[in-house]
Amino acid sequence: MSEITPEAVSTATEAALAVVAAAATVSDLKVARAEHTGEQSPLAQFNAAIKGLPNDQKAAAGKLVGEARGRVTAAVAEREAELAVAEEQQRLASEAVDVTAVPLRWRQGSRHPLSLLMERMGDIFVAMGWEVAEGPELENEWFNFDAMNFDEDHPARAMQDTFFVDPVDSHLLLRTHTSPVQMRSLLSRELPVYVVAPGKVYRTDELDATHTPVFHQIEGLAIDKGLTMAHLRGTLEHLATAMFGEGAQIRLRPNYFPFTEPSAEMDVWQPNAKGGARWVEWGGCGMVNRNVLRAAGVDPDVYQGFAFGMGIERTLQFRNDMNDMRDMVEGDIRFSQQFGVSV
Ligand code: DAH
Repeated sequence: MSEITPEAVSTATEAALAVVAAAATVSDLKVARAEHTGEQSPLAQFNAAIKGLPNDQKAAAGKLVGEARGRVTAAVAEREAELAVAEEQQRLASEAVDVTAVPLRWRQGSRHPLSLLMERMGDIFVAMGWEVAEGPELENEWFNFDAMNFDEDHPARAMQDTFFVDPVDSHLLLRTHTSPVQMRSLLSRELPVYVVAPGKVYRTDELDATHTPVFHQIEGLAIDKGLTMAHLRGTLEHLATAMFGEGAQIRLRPNYFPFTEPSAEMDVWQPNAKGGARWVEWGGCGMVNRNVLRAAGVDPDVYQGFAFGMGIERTLQFRNDMNDMRDMVEGDIRFSQQFGVSV
């Protein structure tokens, strides 16, 4: 240990002050403090050596070392305060939130208007005590055609209308209408039967303004004792009013469907139709053909009933005065938000 001279004390002090000044973090400073003010530090050792000095030198050495230690301790305290402020500022800067930043906005989803409309139409019938029934989209040819009284060589069975599924002898197809649910409902329920069946149907149409190869229909079937065409007409008028408002008008025109006899085409009055007010076709209907009842094991002399089927896309078009069907299949959420009900 060197002698306690002003130079030696000054050297140790300067070294301590330099290390303290260079401390860049609070933990650097802790190390510096231990090294330069701790018991093993040069200045502490000078201090300890004072008691071994001759008495006449003790006061001067005590003053010299005391002042030096005071400077170092003060420098440590000062640096500590500086570092604490700097670290606090750094922490605040890193945790800062930019309250003016433009937030990432998730568009709210929306259910498709076709789904909503099918549900709403179903509800209208549920309110009258009917049931909502379902059938498969991948359907047996028998349910889609034979059970519905289509002749073996009926043109609708031809390839250009129907998506048949490979291999052809599987006799599976994508249902071309919701009418097969009539037979499925009759086979799985006790009489009387009052069902509606909304769902997807498929035909080999090109997509254009008025056709899509996948579209939706709602089927209705009522089988009971003593049902007549008056019940059919009343039911359809109720549906038309619920869909198009008070004052909605429908008319029935004679037509042919294999599964109904008599059959009718149903038109609805469209005051806002493109090109002027006119009747537009909405769906088909009729009294259920005796052959269909027989195929379901129902005695047509005891039970009668009516059926109807209409396009959901058309219904939506009429309700909202839409002209292009393609808007409905493109999946643009703005379309759903405008015509659907957001969730
Ligand atoms: N299934 C027919 C079609 O897709 C629509 C239809 C007509 C359904 C008359 C019926 C009905 O239930 O009685 O064109």
